[in-house]
Amino acid sequence: MNKDWWKKSVVYQIYPQSFKDSNGDGIGDLKGIISKLPYLADLGIDVIWLNPIYLSPLIDNGYDIADYYQINPIYGTLDDFKELLKKAHQLGIKIIMDLVVNHTSDQHSWFQNSKKSRLGKYADFYIWKDPQSNGAPPNNWGSTFGGSAWEYVPERNQYYLHLFAKQQPDLNWENPEVRAAIYKMMRHWFKIGIDGFRMDVISLISKNQQYPDAPSTLPYTKNYYVGSSNGPRVHEFLHEMNQEVLKHYPSLTVGETANTNSEQALLYTDPKRQELNMVFHFDHMHLDYGHFGKFSDIRFKMSDLRQVLSEWQLKLEKGWNSLYWSNHDQPRAVTRFGDDQKYRVESAKMLGTLLHMMKGTPYIFQGEELGMRNVPFKTLSQYQDIETINMIKTLRAAKMSETYIKRVVFLKSRDNARTPMPWDDTAKAGFTKGTPWLDFSPDNSVINVVQALADKNSVYYHYQKLIALRKKYPVIIDGNYALLNPNDSSIYSYTRTNKNEKLIVICSFSRFNVNFNVPTTLVKEKSQLLLSNYTDSPEELNSKIVMRPYEALIYHQNP
Ligand code: GLC
Ligand code: CA
Repeated sequence: MNKDWWKKSVVYQIYPQSFKDSNGDGIGDLKGIISKLPYLADLGIDVIWLNPIYLSPLIDNGYDIADYYQINPIYGTLDDFKELLKKAHQLGIKIIMDLVVNHTSDQHSWFQNSKKSRLGKYADFYIWKDPQSNGAPPNNWGSTFGGSAWEYVPERNQYYLHLFAKQQPDLNWENPEVRAAIYKMMRHWFKIGIDGFRMDVISLISKNQQYPDAPSTLPYTKNYYVGSSNGPRVHEFLHEMNQEVLKHYPSLTVGETANTNSEQALLYTDPKRQELNMVFHFDHMHLDYGHFGKFSDIRFKMSDLRQVLSEWQLKLEKGWNSLYWSNHDQPRAVTRFGDDQKYRVESAKMLGTLLHMMKGTPYIFQGEELGMRNVPFKTLSQYQDIETINMIKTLRAAKMSETYIKRVVFLKSRDNARTPMPWDDTAKAGFTKGTPWLDFSPDNSVINVVQALADKNSVYYHYQKLIALRKKYPVIIDGNYALLNPNDSSIYSYTRTNKNEKLIVICSFSRFNVNFNVPTTLVKEKSQLLLSNYTDSPEELNSKIVMRPYEALIYHQNP
């Protein structure tokens, strides 16, 4: 197998709880995923990323793992998982798992032992610190989901660190036994046959051993970045993991790297350094952040988006990009970056086009290929996500109006991504026979798989074509990226060029017709339209194009 197979791959992210329920308990499961493999094979994807399926009390939907070796029975058994691997592999689809090793669940036996006493094998598996002389926590760090990042345990008369919920204590990566235990667990899953890992908040694993206080200018829930993100030993640890585990398997590795710029990303992904294949950065996610972080009603600016994506395209020349619009932590892409009303279909296809023709490995979040949009839940009580629930409390405490709270929750809640996958237009959407763990989107009657498969102009078929193009034209994998008309106010356009081919990608972010001038040098060569989201776009590239609302064009040349 080509060791860089992941450069040619398209990854599809499955949120297991919400994909397909096989036994009527309202929770998606492994057998459900198996039953939908043909759907994914038809779409043409190469790899599935599964969100965590390990044993977990589900305080943070599986990102709180109680046993890394066991499958959560709500999803099925280890045999079901092996069956999934086998059937996927038969269809040419690889599977990567989520690796959550910045923290465990507080129910993990390591933590249960660790919190009992300052002595014994597990005493230093987590990050324990003495109280300050007045009894206060060791420093002023807040946790992602609200409150202090430190929790006091009387048995040890110490605090432990949790960058996320208090049920998610941070592992102590300084302890070589912790690292050895993690590598052993990773080898175990590779031996079972998995093809790689998506590594949860991996940029946070190495802490500054001084545990410095954060300046009060930083937002409280993220102020721990000062001593946690891209910490002093993070590259050493990942290189060690690579040597101990990863390099022995032809795997795909993608690190989720909060608070990481493109310069730092190069350190994680430069192949010479032998750490990871690629990372998920957040620079384009941050474009619409406000006073309360993600929970704002600010709209991104296209010029900012173009600047950020271009920077990453150019900077990661030596490394490799991962390309994504959304995932289980983000709202739906078409609502956030497109027009989820009149031009839902056009803009969903445009966004897919813009991203999939870039250099890097594209990730599709389940339902994105249907153009799913944010969920207009009627009441705030329908939201289940811990981040959303805590944020509602924070916003109320800050005296924000209920109307404002509803609006930002609608715009940004993680539950927008987590509603059950609509397989058909029936009351239970073909997802379950029971009651779904999270309410359905009221959109299901219009936006669903049966509808998408029946309409030859659906978003689904556009994604299928985008994926097929990547297989056919090497320039999509290896071509150099260059921006065209970098100051245009409505159109994002770029070229990809290798020795033999050129690709010209032109995408409109406007709801109106707009003129676009194509540089004359490009018009001289003969070109061929590869794909458009309108049925009657010009077959040849002209010097002046009238771009219709959210139109997206891909031209190919053999100069
Ligand atoms: C990552 C996950 C998110 C989770 C958090 C804590 O950001 O994607 O869902 O809540 O880490 O594990
Ligand atoms: Ca089930």
